[in-house]
Amino acid sequence: MFENLKAPEADKILRLMASFAADGRTDKVDLGVGVYRNPQGQTPVMAAVREAEAVIAATQVTKSYVGLSGDPAFCEALRGLILGDAVAADRVATCATPGGTGAVRQALEMARRVSPDAAVWMPTPTWPNHPAIVGHLGQTARSYRYYDEATGGLDRQAMLADLAQAKAGDVVLLHGCCHNPTGADLSAKDWRDIGDLLEMTGAVPFIDMAYLGFANGLSEDAAGTRHLAARLPEVLIAASCSKNFGLYRERVGLCLAVTSGPAPREAVSGLMAHLNRQTFAFPPDHGARVVQTILSDARLREMWQTELTLMRETMNTNRAALAAALRDETGSDRFDFLATHRGMFSLIGADPEQVEALRRDHGIYVVGDGRMNVAGLTPETTPKVARALALVLG
Ligand code: LMR
Repeated sequence: MFENLKAPEADKILRLMASFAADGRTDKVDLGVGVYRNPQGQTPVMAAVREAEAVIAATQVTKSYVGLSGDPAFCEALRGLILGDAVAADRVATCATPGGTGAVRQALEMARRVSPDAAVWMPTPTWPNHPAIVGHLGQTARSYRYYDEATGGLDRQAMLADLAQAKAGDVVLLHGCCHNPTGADLSAKDWRDIGDLLEMTGAVPFIDMAYLGFANGLSEDAAGTRHLAARLPEVLIAASCSKNFGLYRERVGLCLAVTSGPAPREAVSGLMAHLNRQTFAFPPDHGARVVQTILSDARLREMWQTELTLMRETMNTNRAALAAALRDETGSDRFDFLATHRGMFSLIGADPEQVEALRRDHGIYVVGDGRMNVAGLTPETTPKVARALALVLG
């Protein structure tokens, strides 16, 4: 059966993780995979998570199955965190999933099931797993222009021109905040303009919300998503707790579908449970229970928000420090855009040869498209990275 099998190639982020692990140099710097690191270079378990886990360990009396769509209390808590009161709860169907990726997969599975011929519009560039999943599902992939390499910002006119071509029922993938890989986010006006277009075309937004709280704050980061949810009849959302709760390996995600009313919501809830059943039966519970425990306890929630704010501020401090060091190294403002981006990632404008030179000559690992994880910088490594970037990018 497998004699002639050729293993599919791992995506560029996973390939980079493997080559970083294999590098014996002690001064290597990992600016690849999207994992938060504190100024000591560690990815610690958040204190609120530790406490919630202690509460669960002390009080949990069974590990028996929960529902196919996960614990309703978890789904409800995360729905509230993301959507606030932008849309009535009886219009929103939810299911817990293994990580944000599980939610992306289930949302696209649902779209394919109801509209097999619909195209999925994705920004250029986007997270490599987006087109990979769309391709795996056999959906039609379309791309829209998003990023302007010359300015390090959004290519607004081009984005809106491309999105105007989406047809009714097509799916338009948007990054809720902290665009991966560019770090260039939509402004409040961009969200309104996109809302106008979606209203006009009848295309359905699908928001990947993997970094809630990493850009400007919890409600600030959800504002665009809430705007579309309040305004449009249908919105798909894939949420992740990997980053904002530091629960990477626990795989905590939620797929949400804003529907036009309680009756379609019932049907979508049924479809979600069915798809979970076909794919993995029951979603993982431990990480979801941790999140729910934190969000439902005022003290733990406060503690978590304080830690989240600290993570966000660390990333923004790293951005400012790198931009300042690059100003000194290059004598120009060419890299100032790094300080204006949000979240973990920015594109540094390196071609594949330059990415290779950074790795080979300096032990600095960024993804092949030039994506850098600024959370991987520390006060010790920033000067070295700035020097290497100035040298290699000329
Ligand atoms: C990333 O983009 O580096 C993260 O979202 C991790 C992943 O799964 O790719």
